[in-house]
Amino acid sequence: MKTRIEQLKKKIEQFTAQTPRELEEFRIAVLGKKGELTAIFDDFKNIAAEQKKEMGKLLNEVKNMVQDRLKNQKEMFDSSADDVLVPDKTLPASAESIGSRHPISITGNEIIEIFTRLGFAIADGPEIEDDWHVFSALNFPPDHPARDMQDTFFVERNPDILLRTHTSSIQVRVMERQKPPIRVICPGRVFRNEAISARAHCIFHQVEGLYIDRNVSFADMKQTLLYFAREMFGENTEIRLRPSFFPFTEPSAEMDVSCKICGGKGCNICKNTGWLEVLGCGIVDPNVLEACGIDSHQYTGFAFGMGVERLAMLKWQIKDLRLYFENDVRFLKQFETA
Ligand code: PHE
Repeated sequence: MKTRIEQLKKKIEQFTAQTPRELEEFRIAVLGKKGELTAIFDDFKNIAAEQKKEMGKLLNEVKNMVQDRLKNQKEMFDSSADDVLVPDKTLPASAESIGSRHPISITGNEIIEIFTRLGFAIADGPEIEDDWHVFSALNFPPDHPARDMQDTFFVERNPDILLRTHTSSIQVRVMERQKPPIRVICPGRVFRNEAISARAHCIFHQVEGLYIDRNVSFADMKQTLLYFAREMFGENTEIRLRPSFFPFTEPSAEMDVSCKICGGKGCNICKNTGWLEVLGCGIVDPNVLEACGIDSHQYTGFAFGMGVERLAMLKWQIKDLRLYFENDVRFLKQFETA
């Protein structure tokens, strides 16, 4: 028995595994059910009593030795293998990745920046408004459909308190407290009673603008909006103004920009027209100026308003409005470098 143990000892001493698999095979060959050391342990029962002390000691030594060796070699593989992480509990925690700006903030800030370069100041106002600032001062007739529960969220009725449906309400507040010249942009959240779908949401963001002074003309508005369009969509962008209607502007127009996806040739983003609708605008109706205490014989002005979600959709070709509100990190992470 002694020679068997000595031989096994030599074998263990000389063994070095090249792969974790080899190491495991060796472990089974020695310590497994049918392993060499296991077999010697089995025979240990049968040896003479006076030999037991010496052999027992030897056997235990070999057993410890093989276990140490297996352990050491396993550790070597563990620390050298690239794909195996050895947890080192003394290391500082890895840094959390930094969040990214929301596409609505990025686009909103871009719009604001362009108009601030033109000398527009930023104005703010409440989201919960009264009828006067959202509708009446803006020349909405009493039976206008926007005043209907189907389009507007009411907080209280008679007198009506409601969630603003556009940030034009901020413009009214500015006109009421400030004498012309006025040059402001009004960014903010607005609310409309719409069923939520890929193309409509009950909450969205607007940036509206107002410019009032002596002799402000439609041409001034067009030039301002052309500058904005080229800053926002690129220097080769063309604009076109189509006649439209808003209660608070006369004349009113809707502005399209040439489709930057197809360069105006026609694609599915611009529905083959070559143009993308981006904002509403017009010359402030004299009724609105008078309602806000501004002399419409001395002053004229233009106003415009755009939806931030829509511009962000055009910028990144986002197809579903709901993505903006779900805060799915897989969506948000895509704007990390934007
Ligand atoms: N307030 C309009 C809207 O919410 C946008 C607009 C603003 C149009 C100013 C013309 C002038 O759709």
